[in-house]
Amino acid sequence: MTAPRRIHLGLFLQGAGHHVSGWRHADAEAGSENFDLLRRMVKAAEAAKFDMVFLADGLTSGVDAHPSMIARFEPLTLLGALAMVTERIGLAATASTTYGEPYHLARAFASIDHLSQGRAAWNVVTTSYARTANNFSKSHPEHDARYAIAEEFVDVVRGLWDSWSDDAFPKDKERGVYADPAKVRVLDHAGTYYSVKGPLNIPRSPQGHPVLIQAGSSGPGQDLAARAADIVFTAQASLTEAQAFYRSLKQRVAGFGRDPNSVAVMPGFLPVVGRSLKEASERLSELDRWSPIERAMPLLEERIGHSLSGYDLDGPLPDLPISDQLRSRAELLTELARREGLTIRQLALRVAAGRGHHIVLGTASDIADRMQEWFETGAADGFNVMPPYFPGGLDAFVAEVVPILQERGLFRTEYEGTTLRDHLGIARPDWPGA
Ligand SMILES: Cc1cc2nc3c(=O)[nH]c(=O)nc-3n(C[C@H](O)[C@H](O)[C@H](O)COP(=O)(O)O)c2cc1C
Repeated sequence: MTAPRRIHLGLFLQGAGHHVSGWRHADAEAGSENFDLLRRMVKAAEAAKFDMVFLADGLTSGVDAHPSMIARFEPLTLLGALAMVTERIGLAATASTTYGEPYHLARAFASIDHLSQGRAAWNVVTTSYARTANNFSKSHPEHDARYAIAEEFVDVVRGLWDSWSDDAFPKDKERGVYADPAKVRVLDHAGTYYSVKGPLNIPRSPQGHPVLIQAGSSGPGQDLAARAADIVFTAQASLTEAQAFYRSLKQRVAGFGRDPNSVAVMPGFLPVVGRSLKEASERLSELDRWSPIERAMPLLEERIGHSLSGYDLDGPLPDLPISDQLRSRAELLTELARREGLTIRQLALRVAAGRGHHIVLGTASDIADRMQEWFETGAADGFNVMPPYFPGGLDAFVAEVVPILQERGLFRTEYEGTTLRDHLGIARPDWPGA
């Protein structure tokens, strides 16, 4: 008997909240470096049986950035700490293929997978923002070149994870054999962008390969996801757009000879829970009132990839070429503004609230209904839950929405296994041999 299809839930954790003004809420304890808060939030998500927690990352800062992005922990360091205070929940973090080396990354994620006994996941990003280059003594490659580099980077990392068979370390005291020389696979990679000899200096990890996530929705982004990822993060704000993306992605997965059901599509989802729709709307308006337009505009301009100074804030978004910086997000925001007839000011506030992700207002059962609709009509296999502020925003979702999903048989009441692959229902890759 096959297990019923269930919603996958990730907690998209940002200490200062997802809404740009979330940290100002009376129920918020701000701080992306507040480990006590982060630990409590991850434990709450684990008690609610979430598949995983996800830590986004970037390699720049600045006072005009989103508060959750101005200052934050290096995410793999934080995952190491979280691995020690949790037992079941998956532990996912972003790391860049444009700014980093495959050997370092393969080693770091394998280490987290060992420390957590099989719960690590890597969100592969190519790093959109050109200003990142200012911190790395190099120039920023253009969009499609970043993905070409990423394709090879991911293959090198996966190859390094297969450096040793699962039984390569007999540690036989009698025979004096610590590592078995017949069970090592030297990668010997010499490609366009990387030359990496291997083997990796850590045993094969509990999941064989940590779970791979991909979060860019452009054509090259979808191809990378379809070929290599187990989970796809995305940001459609309407059902029809989400269905179109889901179809496109699953077709590409099949095109690479993979089972479309083995890749979970998880759009971002910002829930604002109230006792009524009116109360939820007021809650969001309260947060929006704390977001001055001067604060919201840089966030919009960064995503659109163009300065909007000189345009009437109460007029429509001008026709601008889609920037290469965050290509798919710029397209989504332009489409959102056209579809809903938003002014620049309204669009900026929408970005300040959820960076263009799907915002859902209402009672707990309204929110569960929307999740069910997306799940059952080919728009999502799960959701990356983005509370507008912490801890109150997550606590409300966990206390009120999760039980409804469980009562409807849409979400687990107990973990199926111990690893993140178990939660996702995906196989552990075999060792390919020496
Ligand atoms: C849920 C989600 C999480 C993301 N997390 C990150 C992140 O942590 N760091 C990052 O640089 N980009 C992140 N991105 C952005 C993507 O990597 C990508 O740059 C963006 O979606 C544009 O996609 P494209 O380059 O394929 O057009 C995220 C996107 C989504 C939808």
